[in-house]
This record gives sequence, structure tokens and C-alpha cells, in this order.
Amino acid sequence: MTHRVLLVCLGNICRSPTAEGVVRAIAAREYPALDLRVDSAGTANYHVGEPPDRRTVAAARRRGYELSSLRARQVTAADFGNFDYVLAMDRANLAELGRIARSSAAHLGLFLEFAPDCGSDEVPDPYYGGQEGFERVLDLCEAGARGLLAELSQRN
Ligand code: 4NP
Repeated sequence: MTHRVLLVCLGNICRSPTAEGVVRAIAAREYPALDLRVDSAGTANYHVGEPPDRRTVAAARRRGYELSSLRARQVTAADFGNFDYVLAMDRANLAELGRIARSSAAHLGLFLEFAPDCGSDEVPDPYYGGQEGFERVLDLCEAGARGLLAELSQRN
């Protein structure tokens, strides 16, 4: 069974591409038998077609995640039929997904629901802050990825 996961933030240039790259890398390393399709998108269209923010790419690269080939796209109504899980980085984007989806067969929720012990239920927007915000995004995405993959591997 293929598990189809879409990770969503506002711009699709900081948090959700980080989550996508981290989920993909940890899945390949720790869950090689898991049949997984992972993608990311933004609720806004500001950065469509752009690679991730250079601060995001640099911080991820220092931890061994390569994000530079990703390109931003906006969430579409079709995504709610094409993915089993549509997971937002924060409540504002989850609320926006609810407005776009109306009804959805996909599970809509917060990414960090899968990491209840990580100390946060949202991945904070790092865009207007300093370097530490990008490190925090990586920490939280690693926790969310581990929790999500553990859960999906139980449902195989
Ligand atoms: P993201 O971060 O939602 O994690 O990709 C942001 C990227 C761009 C903007 C805001 C947040 N922006 O306002 O352009």
C-alpha cells in the first residue's frame, strides 16, 4: 500500500520543503520497505516555481538534506483526492486547507500531531527571523518525520 503524504506551509519555500526532504531522507535510511510518496505545497502562491529559500537550503545541507532541486507550488483542490495525508505546519495553514478542501477523504491535520512529545504542535514560520528559526524548523521536522514514519510503518 502506498502512503501518500502532502506537507503544507504558507510559501512552500521554508518549512514544508524541509519536511519533505527530511521525511524522504529518513524514510530511505530507516524504512526502506515503506511504500511512500511525499510532496509539499504552499497555501499561498507568492513563491510558485521558486527553489526553497537559500537559508533553508543551507541549514538543511549542513544536516545532510539536499533541497535545492525542489520547486514551490500551491495546494490545489485535486490534492485532497491525490494524497492520504495532508499535513499542515501550523494552525493557520490547517484552517486554510479546511477552506480549500470543503470535504476531503484525506486525513487533514498538523504534521506535529505525529510527534506529541517534541514540545510544539506547530512548526513556526522562520521567514522573518534569524538562523535559529531555521535550525528549529529542522529539529521539529526531524521529530515529525520520525513520528509520522513510525505510524505509517505500523499501518503497512
Ligand atoms: P514557509 O515560509 O511558509 O515556511 O515557506 C514563508 C515563506 C514566505 C513567506 C512567508 C513564510 N512570505 O511571506 O513570502
